Amino acid sequence: MSNGISPVCTHHLRRLEIAQRAREAADRRVETGRFRQRYHFMAPSGWINDPNGLIYWRDRYHLFYQHNPFKPEWGAMHWGHACSRDMVHWKHEPIALAPSESYDLDERGGCFSGSAVDNRGVLTLIYTGRVYRNGEYLETVCLAESADGVHFEKHRANPVISRPPETGSRDFRDPKVWRHGDYWYLIVGTCKDGRGKAALYRSRDLLDWEYLNVPAENSGRGSGDAGDMWECPDLFPLGTKHILVFSPIGVERQKAVYLSGVLDYDKGIFTHTDWDEVDRGFNYYAPQSFTDSRDRRVIIGWAGGCYGPTQQEGWCGYLALPRRIEPARDGKLRFIPIEELQSLRESPKRYNSFLLPEGKRFFLDAGGGVSCELLLRIRLAETTAQKMTLDLRAGGDEYTRVELDFSAAELSLDRGHSDAFYSFGIRRGQVEIDGIPELLLHIFLDACSVELFFNDYKTVMTGNIFPQPEHASIFIKAEGGGVAVAGIETYGLSGIGGTI
Ligand code: FRU
Repeated sequence: MSNGISPVCTHHLRRLEIAQRAREAADRRVETGRFRQRYHFMAPSGWINDPNGLIYWRDRYHLFYQHNPFKPEWGAMHWGHACSRDMVHWKHEPIALAPSESYDLDERGGCFSGSAVDNRGVLTLIYTGRVYRNGEYLETVCLAESADGVHFEKHRANPVISRPPETGSRDFRDPKVWRHGDYWYLIVGTCKDGRGKAALYRSRDLLDWEYLNVPAENSGRGSGDAGDMWECPDLFPLGTKHILVFSPIGVERQKAVYLSGVLDYDKGIFTHTDWDEVDRGFNYYAPQSFTDSRDRRVIIGWAGGCYGPTQQEGWCGYLALPRRIEPARDGKLRFIPIEELQSLRESPKRYNSFLLPEGKRFFLDAGGGVSCELLLRIRLAETTAQKMTLDLRAGGDEYTRVELDFSAAELSLDRGHSDAFYSFGIRRGQVEIDGIPELLLHIFLDACSVELFFNDYKTVMTGNIFPQPEHASIFIKAEGGGVAVAGIETYGLSGIGGTI
């Protein structure tokens, strides 16, 4: 072109402008949303799903995300973008990627999920281009680059991987790239003959990719090893092991899981355990992890599924809180809310140890009861109750119930009465009690969510709930005996607003 700007670039700029304008026009309607989260990350308006391209780059965290700026519904995927200094307070940036080229321009496709790396100072996004051609979809690996971390140009060499390996199929998406030794490594989700798998590649320059192997796949052995397609695979070192996180399609319910094992980089072989869940709740999908400024491994997931009334408010979806991943002694992983979240705490309240007698409701004061954090410790030796219930967001006929069954050593999160008609179902998890003097339940509530951590942060349950905003009581109750409460801490949590 005579002005020196390539056609790839002008198409993209035009599409970005259209998307940005649509989003700005929608923003005001969203502001008054009654169910808007107060401290969880959301798009300014429209739709959000997977977190993409998490990276700490030039003193800031960058978070990209699957985004439809036109409607609070999935479709025409763009990459939204935000920056932060603490992963808690975020500043929205201009939309980073819009569908604009032959390999990604499609109403039902677009710029699908991927990751980010620093390639010699250039912030490089590795994403999935998806289009429909002759009734079939085509998924490829593409690059976009930025020198300033705000404006991204799609690479002229796109797509850099234009077809799946022999062992894969048309489902070929969500590349996650990382550096090891002299190579970039890329893991991508695919499947064949109804079996989900992850495929591994390597490259010296991010452009020419050598296919290595399938380090892990659904071997058909049943539970703990299943799924027709593995979305958003993420393979990373942790301590002496490697962890593979992915979101399998076609299992009994939506979830994100992890395998733990040893990776042979040259052969692309991953010797691993059966899977365990990253989150046992209702709404946690397609998480991505990265190394933060302090060398911690942090994971952020999309609180997907169950959208309640928010679409009527012009927005849909949010991201679950950032969690630090640590190996536990028993080989499992711990998912701990990052310490930076403590900066949101206000109006602290402390309850010293007491015996909660059978049958009596004990109300907890936790900020306003909507946007708050609770830490509840229970001494097992002196507890005689069979059960303890903790009702959250209670009021009218609504409540969301956490039930601790001491005799069955089980915890459940029950959404049967959470709201008028959006939420339902119950999730259960074993509670480790052998040799454990004190149980800790750590809970975060926001306008339409609950995140519950227990078993020393090895079990997490995330759920979306849509109670009326004024339904905000919290109380505990013992059944069949007393509960020895070792102590309770509560905090109101302040909203994050829009800037860092
Ligand atoms: C997971 C996913 C990815 C895909 C993206 C599209 O939620 O289906 O596999 O890249 O969402 O928005």
